[in-house]
Amino acid sequence: MTELMKLPYAQDALEPAISKETISYHYGKHHRGYVDNLNKLVEGTAYADMKLEDIIREAGQDFPRDGRGTALGTQYCPGNGSPLFVNAAQVYNHNLYWESLRPDEPVGSGMSEAASSYINEYWGSIDRLKSAVTRTATKLFGSGWVWICKHEDNSPFVRATHDAGTPLDDPLVTPLLVIDVWEHAYYLQYKNDRAKYIEQIWPVINWDKLA
Ligand SMILES: [Fe+2]
Repeated sequence: MTELMKLPYAQDALEPAISKETISYHYGKHHRGYVDNLNKLVEGTAYADMKLEDIIREAGQDFPRDGRGTALGTQYCPGNGSPLFVNAAQVYNHNLYWESLRPDEPVGSGMSEAASSYINEYWGSIDRLKSAVTRTATKLFGSGWVWICKHEDNSPFVRATHDAGTPLDDPLVTPLLVIDVWEHAYYLQYKNDRAKYIEQIWPVINWDKLA
């Protein structure tokens, strides 16, 4: 049984970047829907008592894999996932998305020293990282996610996944932060303007997830 995670802030706490109405639908309808679907699918099966991450890895086993064990299907063949995989992955992806955001309080409070030095060490500046994320988000065709992950040697990278795709399939990669770029994440406020949504989201990104 997987529970809908508790939002770590009030539904209006990310305004004006992300409106209360957007969060109300996104968290209350979409995210809750994935949790409810998942629980129906695992009921009475061997998956019922498994951890969310294990369900995702197990349900992703049917995908073709590359030499490192990465399940190619989840990234490159959107739509191939079983209902179990896509609902479990969407629960995980949304959990990390809500944790990747935080209220901008006090306004302009920025990030910790640790996050700042990690970003500077690998990207040179926060602006270069933002550019990489923006490029990845705006070039992704269709629905998906933009991730900041790290390799085993601690080096980070930006990547996208389609639909319910998640980097969890790669045992050598740790997802640190994610931005939801499905239209339901921004349409109520920004209509189809994904670039505008990304431009406005920076003040509420929880950069400390990188520390
Ligand atoms: Fe979403």
